[in-house]
Parts: sequence; C-alpha cells; structure tokens
Amino acid sequence: MNEKYKPLFNSFTFPNGINLKNRLVMAPMTNFSSNEDGTVTDAEVEYYARRSNGVSMVITACTYVTRNGKGFHGEFGADSDEMIPSLRKLASAIKAEGAKAVLQIFHGGRECPPELVPNGDIVSASDVQSERNSAKAPRALTGEEVEEIIAAFGETTRRAVEAGFDGVEIHGANGYLIQQFFSPHSNKRDDQWGGSLEKRMAFPLAVVDEVKRVTAKHAKDPFIVGYRFSPEEPEEPGITMADTLELIDALAEKDLD
Ligand SMILES: Cc1cc2nc3c(=O)[nH]c(=O)nc-3n(C[C@H](O)[C@H](O)[C@H](O)COP(=O)(O)O)c2cc1C
Repeated sequence: MNEKYKPLFNSFTFPNGINLKNRLVMAPMTNFSSNEDGTVTDAEVEYYARRSNGVSMVITACTYVTRNGKGFHGEFGADSDEMIPSLRKLASAIKAEGAKAVLQIFHGGRECPPELVPNGDIVSASDVQSERNSAKAPRALTGEEVEEIIAAFGETTRRAVEAGFDGVEIHGANGYLIQQFFSPHSNKRDDQWGGSLEKRMAFPLAVVDEVKRVTAKHAKDPFIVGYRFSPEEPEEPGITMADTLELIDALAEKDLD
C-alpha cells in the first residue's frame, strides 16, 4: 500500500471512548427502498450488510422523527416504538459485519413532498417557500409543535438506543428542518426560535440538548452523538460562514462526538 494511505487505517477514539478500527466511514445515503409503512426492506438490510464489512462506521440514510418530517419516498421511519424491530434489523446487520452503526435522525421541514406527509401539511420555521425543489409553501410551526419536534428527536434517540445502535447523527445539514431554523431565508420568526443569529441557533441547540439528555438517561454504554451541518447556503439571505463559525462555537460546548 502507498505510504500516504496508511493513516486511513489508524484507529480513532471518540471523546466518549468508543473506538473505530479505521478512518473509513460510510456516509449517510438515502436509498428510497424502505416499505410504505416505514419499515426497512430485506433488500435494504442486505445493501447495508454488503457495505459494512471493512469500514469502521456506517451512518444510515436519514430517518424521520415525526410523520410530517418524511422527506423521501421509501424513507424508513423511527417515529414510533412500532419501528424498533425494523431499526434493530438494520443495527444488527451493520454491527454483524464489524462496523459501528449510527442512525441519522431527521425532519425534512419545507422540503418534504406534500404527498408524503399527513394531509399535505408542510411545516417549517416560517411560511417561506423553498427555492430548491419544494412544491408548496410551508406553514410556520406553532411554539407547541416546535417543542413536540424537539421531543421527537429525543424519542427517536431512545429508540436508537433500544434498537442497538452505537449512536445517532443529528441531520442539521442539506437544507432540512434543523437548518431551516438556522437559516435567515427560512426562519422569519420573532419568538424565542428566531430573529437574531443567537435565536436562530436555539432550535438546533435545543435538539442537541434533548438528544444528549435522552442519551444520558437511556444509554448504558457509551453512545455516539454527532451533528452534521452545511456551512453556507446559496439563498439570499442565507447562512454565511460567519454564522456557521458561531454555530460551531456553540456546538463545541455540547460535548458532541
Ligand atoms: C443518493 C444520495 C443520498 C444521500 N442521502 C443523504 C442522507 O440521507 N443524509 C445526508 O446527510 N446526506 C446524504 N447524502 C449526501 C452524502 O452523505 C454526501 O455528503 C454527498 O454524496 C457528497 O459526497 P460525495 O461527493 O462523495 O458524493 C446523499 C447523497 C447521495 C448521492
């Protein structure tokens, strides 16, 4: 092997003590292959098993934390305890091949196709239509609904623990709900969840706090908690690198892996 590639095979230890056998990780990739009811298909589980041998960690495709957060046809669900057996199949298949299994937890917000969410009721931080591929303007979440979605990220984390995952990755990137709260394009709120840069960070940080709280309560073994972000947006106004550096400083206080 070329000397310059050797560091890829060095192990890596997370702050929580979990050890990865190398630096090769499968990125989260939506596969549009789950059943209509949100359970994983056998073909999908086999797809993961085939890719879990050799890499040290697999981050799954994103999974919705509430029914109104389903962003893709054939996306699998983690929004109810009925999904735990399905989640367990996935975690077991990945771990059986020697990789750590991390569940990517997600809400699509205004990017959800209306036909995938109950009553076509698309929600986001505010009622601003996406310039990406959305078919419909969203409605702004009420304060109570915002709290419910934060709690749902926590409940999904508990299900990940119960299903045997080694961790979760909070999907704060690629223009979905968490990013929609951080973005000045999609967040025009004037309550505690929007307005200043600091308030636009409140929802992402509340999700992190809830996931960490649930992890401390339910995980008996060390559990990986990660956060994915997109540093900039093409929209005007949009997230800038200066905004992101502030978010990173706040995330760095949260004891993430
Ligand atoms: C088919 C496909 C599905 C993806 N699904 C997700 C996803 O569910 N969650 C996520 O965070 N990123 C997703 N991504 C982004 C990838 O994780 C990755 O960041 C992106 O493909 C860039 O890496 P690349 O240049 O090696 O393709 C997806 C990418 C592709 C191509």
